[in-house]
Amino acid sequence: MGSLQLFLNRPISFSSAVDVRCSFRLRARLSVDVQSKDSVKVCLKSKEVMETEGKVMVGTYARTPLVLSSGKGCKLYDPEGREYLDCTSGIAVNSLGHGDPDWVRAVTEQVQLLTHTSNVYYSIPQVELAKRLVNSSFADRVFFSNSGTEANEAAIKFARKFQKVSHSNENDHPTDFISFSNSFHGRTLGALALTSKENYRSPFEPVMPGVTFLEYGNIEQARELILKGKIAAVFVEPIQGEGGIYSATKEFLQSLRSACDEAGALLVFDEVQCGLGRTGYLWAHEAYGVFPDIMTLAKPLAGGLPIGAVLVTERVAAAVKHGDHGSTFAGGPLVCNAAIAVLDKIWKPSFLESVSKKGEYFKEQLTQKLKGNQHVKEVRGLGLIIGIELDVSASPLVDACRNSGLLILTAGKGNVVRLVPPLIISEEELKLATDILSKCLPVLDDNK
Ligand SMILES: Cc1ncc(COP(=O)(O)O)c(C=O)c1O
Repeated sequence: MGSLQLFLNRPISFSSAVDVRCSFRLRARLSVDVQSKDSVKVCLKSKEVMETEGKVMVGTYARTPLVLSSGKGCKLYDPEGREYLDCTSGIAVNSLGHGDPDWVRAVTEQVQLLTHTSNVYYSIPQVELAKRLVNSSFADRVFFSNSGTEANEAAIKFARKFQKVSHSNENDHPTDFISFSNSFHGRTLGALALTSKENYRSPFEPVMPGVTFLEYGNIEQARELILKGKIAAVFVEPIQGEGGIYSATKEFLQSLRSACDEAGALLVFDEVQCGLGRTGYLWAHEAYGVFPDIMTLAKPLAGGLPIGAVLVTERVAAAVKHGDHGSTFAGGPLVCNAAIAVLDKIWKPSFLESVSKKGEYFKEQLTQKLKGNQHVKEVRGLGLIIGIELDVSASPLVDACRNSGLLILTAGKGNVVRLVPPLIISEEELKLATDILSKCLPVLDDNK
């Protein structure tokens, strides 16, 4: 066996016809160890995977030097068999952890039955999932997409169409949008136009025109601009994820709601990151008692398979007609059946209560054990979306934690540690995460 064919602890094994084909292609370049006709085991050491990635992929990602090859519950493993406690959930995606048995069952059963239909036809899982989303939320209807950014693109179009229809007897209608400081809504050109970080937008300008960024939480500024009557919709995250784990106040969301109602603008809550149980509420806005006209979802909805959803009230849906929007893949039977398994679990009051309880516990532990450190400015968040604001870059801490077996993320300007573990994480695992963070904190002194 050559150097690239080392038999590792946890080989990736492929068994389907498609994967076998894919592995044979890999073999040509990477010397994959072919075990049999039906079962091919690819054994690549991490280093070689990283080096090959650098040669064959477009360089959009500044990746962490870690290859992940398997996972179970809240644990992830690299090809060499090293174990990591996952406080990232694939960026707030794997809420049920890795390999949840009900999710695996839903996926495998559906794969055997039917994977893709296109939206030319009806499919049972799609309608079942939409029914559940409607029954569990403010919404009357659902549109499915494949990602968070696509959900926001759809919301932008629906808002524009709603305003056009609502002002059909006038020469002009509101077409502009409000977004906020530290917001993140996605990378496609419409959603990107709503994303506050200048260096994400500027290389691709002109992006969609007509977006004004206001200070997150500034009630007066938002009210004044909304009441001018040019705003089609206001996009806001009830809790900002990428931006640094900033929670809106109830007064802020309430004032947006009432200004939108007065002016005829739509209020869009982007719950792509904070929604679906992460806060301990099924929908983050339930914590505020303020309801949107449109809510966008994605990340955790299908437990790791790509999905997005736009939930709307009847009056918004009424403006959207056949052909106004669509997608080949969106809301396919496979992702929808997976999402049903996720939603059915997370929706249970006992599950949501456990998230709240664990969130309180985690924040308490973190506050107790980290707050004394000179670099820790604040521990904040709700449920299991928690930010630790530092007065320095969080990168050295992220690296040290990874080397100690804990995976965490950054947010904000890189000075916020973002903790978004699977919602099924145990208190014992949360304590372990806190202990590792605490033990690694001194690296911040070394790097100052
Ligand atoms: C609040 C929010 N909206 C939208 C997106 C974009 O989602 P996606 O990466 O699935 O396009 C993200 C991704 O991080 C997000 O956090």
